[in-house]
Amino acid sequence: MFPRLISLAALAAVSLPLIAPAGASAATARTETFKPGSAGLGDPYFPHAGNGGYDVGHYDIKLRFTPKSHHLTATTTITATATADLSRFNLDYSGPKITKVEVNGTRASYRRTGQELVVTPRHGLASGSQFTVEVSYAGTPKPIKDKALGLEGWINTKDGATVVSEPDGARSWFPANDNPQDKATFTFHVSVPVGVTVLANGEPKNAGIVGVRHGYTTSKWEMSHPMATYLAMVAIGKFKVTEGMVAGVPSITAYDPAVAKKSKYLHRTTEKAVQWESKVFGPYPFSSTGGIGDKLGVGYALETQGRPVYDGGPGEDLEIVHELAHQWFGDSVGLRSWKDIWLNEGFASYAEWLYEEQHGGPSAQKTFDKYYKQKAHFWDLKTGNPGRKDMFDWNAVYLRGAMTLHALRVKIGDDVFFPMLKTWTEEHRHGTVTTRDFVELAERSSGQDLDPFFDAWLYTAAKPKL
Ligand code: ARG
Ligand code: ZN
Repeated sequence: MFPRLISLAALAAVSLPLIAPAGASAATARTETFKPGSAGLGDPYFPHAGNGGYDVGHYDIKLRFTPKSHHLTATTTITATATADLSRFNLDYSGPKITKVEVNGTRASYRRTGQELVVTPRHGLASGSQFTVEVSYAGTPKPIKDKALGLEGWINTKDGATVVSEPDGARSWFPANDNPQDKATFTFHVSVPVGVTVLANGEPKNAGIVGVRHGYTTSKWEMSHPMATYLAMVAIGKFKVTEGMVAGVPSITAYDPAVAKKSKYLHRTTEKAVQWESKVFGPYPFSSTGGIGDKLGVGYALETQGRPVYDGGPGEDLEIVHELAHQWFGDSVGLRSWKDIWLNEGFASYAEWLYEEQHGGPSAQKTFDKYYKQKAHFWDLKTGNPGRKDMFDWNAVYLRGAMTLHALRVKIGDDVFFPMLKTWTEEHRHGTVTTRDFVELAERSSGQDLDPFFDAWLYTAAKPKL
């Protein structure tokens, strides 16, 4: 789902049958001019992430996983719409051995090169037509290891596996158009040995169990709002699950007993944070919420859509406030390009400052002053384009990102700043944005020319003057 293409795709859906009929001779004549889809979408940090020529609408991911052996058998079915006349197309995939690829129910040929899975269907795919790709694979998935970004993707744990894929780990466990621009809805069917617990994004169907066979139970989870591939998550293992309601939606939290101590307040704080954030940022964007504490060994938490994952358990309240703030900033209002990562991390970090300010802690101004004193190298990187290896740099992206928002708040005033946050989450709900969109909203809301301000805060490697 590319938000900007929705109207085009909708138009095409009206004028074309869902699957273009193989109007034999005409189709064959036309397919000679069909071209391969591109192997990337031009993201400056991840040029191979995502692919051209189609728009994914839905991922149906079927997994059968055995915790003891960490063996997975899987079939992922993608429903997509061609946005060009395609002779072949790519998916991003770095998972276990592929056993079969089908397009529209017919065997397709494929080859793997680097992270690309190149699929050549028997027949070309006409622009505007909807098609399905079914990929079956089996083996033990391994996380993506990156020198600068650490471990991401499918993480095998002592008692199962849990997924945390930011920025490009989705391809470790399913074939994907692995770029945040192309959001899609997701269904997960996960079969595990009886007694093992499964969680995923969204909501469970039939109280989580849809079938029991040969000692395996199958659960089905549904994420019915558009989601970026890096936010897709399953968690398999031993979990203590707590359910409730908050902000009008179900809350489902779970933790591995091994991290019980640091997960003691996971459920309570999750509900408290979602409640408060709905007041400050606008309506909660998804149909359920929650969180998962597990022992992954990646050393970070991730805002997996509707249900963040906390490695080692959340420990402190502010970590929960941060990951849940991402539900508005990052998940619902998503990125078009990874260089704008401050739109995620700066906002989620500033949410922590605001939460403290409104819960008897230091004022956001006080927190700002503390960091503004930092000298020299603190200001070395550009927050609005930190570079691939520094995309999660604490100083440049998290702190200076939050400081940018605070400085903006001071410049335009609370009366403009706070309503503007709600306009941002409302206008771009379930969409994608760039920094330019935010600058324009801030200028529109305040009536001020803010280009020099954002230049100094986001695009200059030096301490901005106040
Ligand atoms: N977005 C996560 C957070 O809330 C951080 C993800 C870090 N990812 C990584 N591969 N190191 O801060
Ligand atoms: Zn974050």
